[in-house]
Amino acid sequence: MESLKGKTAWVTGASAGIGAATARALGQQGAHVLLSARREDRLEELAAELPSAEVLALDVCDAAQVKAAVADRSLDIVVACAGLARGLDMLQDGDPTDWAVTLDTNLKGVLHVVHAALPGLIRQGHGDLVFLGSVAGRQVYPGGNVYCASKYGVRAVYEALRMDAGGKGVRYTTVDPGMVETDFTLTRLGDPEAAAKVYENMHPLSAEDVADAVLFAVTRPKHVNIGEIVLWPTCQASTRDVTRDS
Ligand SMILES: NC(=O)c1ccc[n+]([C@@H]2O[C@H](COP(=O)([O-])OP(=O)(O)OC[C@H]3O[C@@H](n4cnc5c(N)ncnc54)[C@H](OP(=O)(O)O)[C@@H]3O)[C@@H](O)[C@H]2O)c1
Repeated sequence: MESLKGKTAWVTGASAGIGAATARALGQQGAHVLLSARREDRLEELAAELPSAEVLALDVCDAAQVKAAVADRSLDIVVACAGLARGLDMLQDGDPTDWAVTLDTNLKGVLHVVHAALPGLIRQGHGDLVFLGSVAGRQVYPGGNVYCASKYGVRAVYEALRMDAGGKGVRYTTVDPGMVETDFTLTRLGDPEAAAKVYENMHPLSAEDVADAVLFAVTRPKHVNIGEIVLWPTCQASTRDVTRDS
């Protein structure tokens, strides 16, 4: 395992769930962590518990804000984790406002992060760009439609980068989990009871399980690029099949 001491890691979506767990994991291994999301109070709380961290509050949908936040920064690791889903409506019943928020955050937000960080990584000739994709970027499911489209899009961006910006010392990774118990489902459904039901009688991944995969990818020797990590809960066979305890 390569040391993270002296490295700077920028994590978006660091105010909750997988992003917060990833920031914690990287910080505990010695990285200086730049924490981004919209909820500044949560970022400040996390920064206070890490050995070395700074808060860069921002909205990933705002390209100028994202660019300005890291304009003078030298980055070693970038984890584009900010993301969400809105609703589980069938496509014909969907709300275009929800579609816009989902695509703006998950796909354009990732592009804004790439645009802000990648030129510096290429210039210095090293670095890690890690995407939080999803198994929803590999298999669709009923009601997944636009969220799945956003995550298929993230996978396309990951694959495109390997071609457009490969061979320049930068490593590209997509970490694609199945069901992870975070606030993700509450944000999607807006109803705590309905959200709790999604994880009922099954053993989902934790945010820390996913953070562990990110940590593994960014601590390999320099010549090793872990490209794609797909993590499922053991009881989840596909985006449609979950075995629950009776
Ligand atoms: N949970 C799962 O089952 C699962 C499975 C596969 C993939 N994923 C992916 O993992 C990533 C993290 O999700 P999670 O499960 O950790 O959900 P979460 O606990 O709800 O965290 C989502 C994070 O994204 C941030 N965010 C959302 N919109 C943003 C915006 N416009 N600008 C900046 N930050 C924004 C939120 O911060 P603020 O609200 O403070 O801005 C929060 O920190 C997402 O990309 C999601 O698609 C999740």
